[in-house]
Amino acid sequence: MIPREVIDEIIARNDIEQTIGSYVSLKRAGSNMNGLCPFHSEKSPSFTVFPATRSFYCFGCGAGGDVISFIMRQENLDYVGALELLASRAGIEIPSDRNALPDKGVPRARVYEMNLAAARFFRECLLDEQYGKEGLRYLHEERGLSMATIRHFGLGFAPDHWWALTNHMRRLGFTEEELIEGFLCKRSEKSGKIFDLFRNRVIFPVIDTSGNIIAFGGRVMDDSKPKYLNSSDTPAFKKSRHLFALNFAKKQCAERMILCEGYMDVIALHAAGFENAVATLGTAITSEQARVFAKYTKQVVICYDSDAAGQTAASKAMRLLGEVGVDVRVLKLSGAKDPDEYIKKFGQDSFRRVLDSSMTGFEFRLEKILSEYNLQIAEEKIRASNAVCGMIAEAHSHVERDIYVKKAADRLELSADALRTDVERIRRRRASDARKKDAKDAQLSIKHIGDRVNVDSAKNIRATQAEEALLGLMLMFEEFRREAADGRAPIRAEDFSTEFGRRVFSEICRLERGEYGFSKGMLAEHFSPDELGRIEKMEVDRRLLNRNDRDVFLAAIDTIKEEHSRTEESDDFAEELRKRQEAYQARIKNKNT
Ligand code: CTP
Ligand code: MN
Repeated sequence: MIPREVIDEIIARNDIEQTIGSYVSLKRAGSNMNGLCPFHSEKSPSFTVFPATRSFYCFGCGAGGDVISFIMRQENLDYVGALELLASRAGIEIPSDRNALPDKGVPRARVYEMNLAAARFFRECLLDEQYGKEGLRYLHEERGLSMATIRHFGLGFAPDHWWALTNHMRRLGFTEEELIEGFLCKRSEKSGKIFDLFRNRVIFPVIDTSGNIIAFGGRVMDDSKPKYLNSSDTPAFKKSRHLFALNFAKKQCAERMILCEGYMDVIALHAAGFENAVATLGTAITSEQARVFAKYTKQVVICYDSDAAGQTAASKAMRLLGEVGVDVRVLKLSGAKDPDEYIKKFGQDSFRRVLDSSMTGFEFRLEKILSEYNLQIAEEKIRASNAVCGMIAEAHSHVERDIYVKKAADRLELSADALRTDVERIRRRRASDARKKDAKDAQLSIKHIGDRVNVDSAKNIRATQAEEALLGLMLMFEEFRREAADGRAPIRAEDFSTEFGRRVFSEICRLERGEYGFSKGMLAEHFSPDELGRIEKMEVDRRLLNRNDRDVFLAAIDTIKEEHSRTEESDDFAEELRKRQEAYQARIKNKNT
């Protein structure tokens, strides 16, 4: 763990105005600064920097926190990575025995060093007459990669040997523990000796946007299994966060990026001049990766394999990318299973044309629905038409619906008027359903619906408000924090109704009681960027009010407890109901027998 003094110094020496100002153009507004939020797209500035509290908050998207969480989001780093970056900018040395992730022993910088040495070794092997022949034959001859492309991507070869890399790395002074932590070697349970994990495979190094080699993928050269071996997460690498070839693509991607399935697709695309292609690393796209796309580009064209699995994965990717606000397109290749094969067969110009005519989200969903029905059969066609109208009805603008209706009418061979009438009827029905639901949920304030940070909030509106007030006060004032942490204030974690509130409360108290005391910067270690934004909001909301005294603190505690016992009661009540129901059913059964 990095000591609090060091964290505080890092925060103090990286002035928040200057740091954020180097990414966002900020204008003074009273004692604060405003600008366009870098984390969502907006036209009027709702992103605010509060120099007095060394924090930021976006009233538009809810991103918020201190200079550390800003860097985590902006540079796509984890907590320790952000601290390291800020420390090095300010010329602060993080004591080296602490320069590590909390639960892993090997410092990140050491893993980079180790990976660089390993990548060099793999590359030398590939070019070695004796060891690399097979690998080079596979990449160059069988897969048709030019020597320039092989060099550009730093591809390599792991020889068919148990200790080739192990022996090499040992000579360079890397320890067995380091090699195991870095996912290059494994310890044999039988002999206790370590051995190479990558054997007889061509090697694809994964490089981050700062140029560090963070992981490797190794592919077999025949049909044996597993086809790929990939680095697991190490102190330097998290699969769910990185993208293959982003180091190159980041230079070409402002307008559009291409998301493909695998290493070979990306390499083929880059070689054909599409240097804005990237791939996830052997997993489906995560929301973290979606945010990375949103940071770099306006449009993502999803170009997955044309098989069923690829198309299902495309639907999921479309949803995640849509959520972060990028314009998503889907490419469906015909005549080839993936972009690699497509370019080999039809050439890069043809690929550019299909890229420009990629389907919008609407077209993709339309085709998907149509493929599920047999349009030759009247009943099926009616059901297909209903499904299509239901989807079109989701569009908010008249113009959009009009365009979709015409396209769908064409594909279904129905009149546009008939479809339009159906769409509008569905809209009216949904609107009236929504009004009824609104009336029912009148007490549910809209902002809690679909709250993904605090998932319990919708069910516990009043409790959530009180919890946020209390936590906001604890974040602002040391005295309240102390009282809660040492048990003087009559509130405990168990009194919270929402899981999120409980976690924040426990963590603040834990830090407050700890060796170094509480500092907001230390929360970033245990909460995601979205959660940190919410925590920041709790404090911002309190600061905007001028009543923040002990009465407010005690009233919040009362409400929290009251609400908690109320929900417990209702749980008890549900239990009671269930028992009665059972007893009743038992009676009926007895009667009947
Ligand atoms: N993948 C993996 N492990 C496997 C199979 C696939 O990690 N056993 C990941 C790899 O990142 C791979 C991607 O999924 O690049 C796509 O898989 P696939 O289409 O099978 O491989 P390609 O890279 O396209 O290779 P090829 O063109 O040789 O089939
Ligand atoms: Mn493939």
